[in-house]
Amino acid sequence: MNILLLGSGGREHAMAWKMAKSPLCDRLFIAPGNAGTAQCGTNVDLKLTEFRQIRQFCMDESVDMILVGPEEPLVKGIVDYFRMHPVALKSGALMSIIGPSLYGAQLEGSKAFAKAFMDRHKIPTAAYREFDAASFEEGLLYIKQHTLPIVLKADGLAAGKGVLILNDHDEAAKEFEEMIKEEKFGDASKKVVIEEFLSGIEMSVFVLTDGKNYVLLPDAKDYKRIGEADTGLNTGGMGAVSPVPFANDIFMKKVIERVVRPTVAGLQEERIDYKGFIFVGLIKVNEEPFVIEYNCRMGDPETEVVMPRLQNDLVELLLATANGELDKVTVVQDPRVACTVMAVSGGYPGDYEKGKLIKGLDAQLPPASLLFHAGTVEKEGEVFTAGGRVLCVTSYGESVGEAVALSKQALNTISFDGMYFRKDIGYEFSESNKS
Ligand code: AMP
Ligand code: GLY
Repeated sequence: MNILLLGSGGREHAMAWKMAKSPLCDRLFIAPGNAGTAQCGTNVDLKLTEFRQIRQFCMDESVDMILVGPEEPLVKGIVDYFRMHPVALKSGALMSIIGPSLYGAQLEGSKAFAKAFMDRHKIPTAAYREFDAASFEEGLLYIKQHTLPIVLKADGLAAGKGVLILNDHDEAAKEFEEMIKEEKFGDASKKVVIEEFLSGIEMSVFVLTDGKNYVLLPDAKDYKRIGEADTGLNTGGMGAVSPVPFANDIFMKKVIERVVRPTVAGLQEERIDYKGFIFVGLIKVNEEPFVIEYNCRMGDPETEVVMPRLQNDLVELLLATANGELDKVTVVQDPRVACTVMAVSGGYPGDYEKGKLIKGLDAQLPPASLLFHAGTVEKEGEVFTAGGRVLCVTSYGESVGEAVALSKQALNTISFDGMYFRKDIGYEFSESNKS
């Protein structure tokens, strides 16, 4: 079958790498892709929110299935577009698209929607209230009597910047005012969720659902801060490990019973069209799981450790998702640890320059390592940086320390002007990794 994968990050390179291995995959297109995805299939120049153009491409190239990588097209309704304008295949069946409808994508696209969904289905999450311009004064009073720290969240997508954790009531009130009155995050902060601060350790659980059945993919933990020991600004993600060492059977049983099952049952009960990934951002508070957020897509860089540890054929899993047959599938995980370390442009997550020549890409990687491109572009046979997160190396190991050491060793043979990567990914789980 022919598959079109939408996106251009490390997540998409890992997905493309995985799908290209499948005997079910004839032609793989990646739009717009990067220099790494070009080695797995054909990059095509399509805009992710130009649905008509994507549909025309699918008809011209006999695409059987679209897999949507990032959230933007989902939150803008790409799945609904193809439900309204289906593409008929030669077999008479309809082209499938993996991802939730616009309504379902609100689990990520609207914090207020996600919180209300969790409330309806008794899924554990931080206590909260939502406010808008009409309830602004009430919001100020709520802030005043709230315990510290206090968490303010812009309702909509705000490029990862919409969550503020504040230790002072006056500061919280000022930020709240800027969000609502001055639209600090544009439309995204017209509504604000104010919630209780939870203290614990975070991890990510990945669910693939056909809207009725679900499977769990390998779990992972990512490292969001730019600086070592989790200091400095938030980024898209500087590295990840899988499996999560503290996610033992007892804890995962609680996650499944209290979070995953009620989430999928809730989608079904509310008749939400959702055939795709649910990324559950969890926090473990005294051995109990609480949901911090949902995303309607896979994580990046978590996918760069999840795909290497997934032993199933990804295309087969996606087909079962499209056909509502995930109850017939068993996920098999590689028993080894996988860790990824992300190399970023100097200055990221602030301003950074692009267009730096990347050297060392031809060198042989250690056999237990994989290179995934993120922000890269190929020009006349050479590869240049084209984003903040540039590339990552995932390695397998018997331990987190061993896998991270291999990734760092591989990254030391690659270079570009301004290149930076964290040397301490997985530090809580590996004494030997501290350097
Ligand atoms: P979100 O965009 O909802 O994932 O929030 C971004 C980050 O803020 C999370 O990964 C957490 O580290 C932190 N965070 C969000 N909500 C809370 C909360 N209620 N308590 C503690 N930390 C939180
Ligand atoms: N790594 C976190 C995310 O993909 O949102």
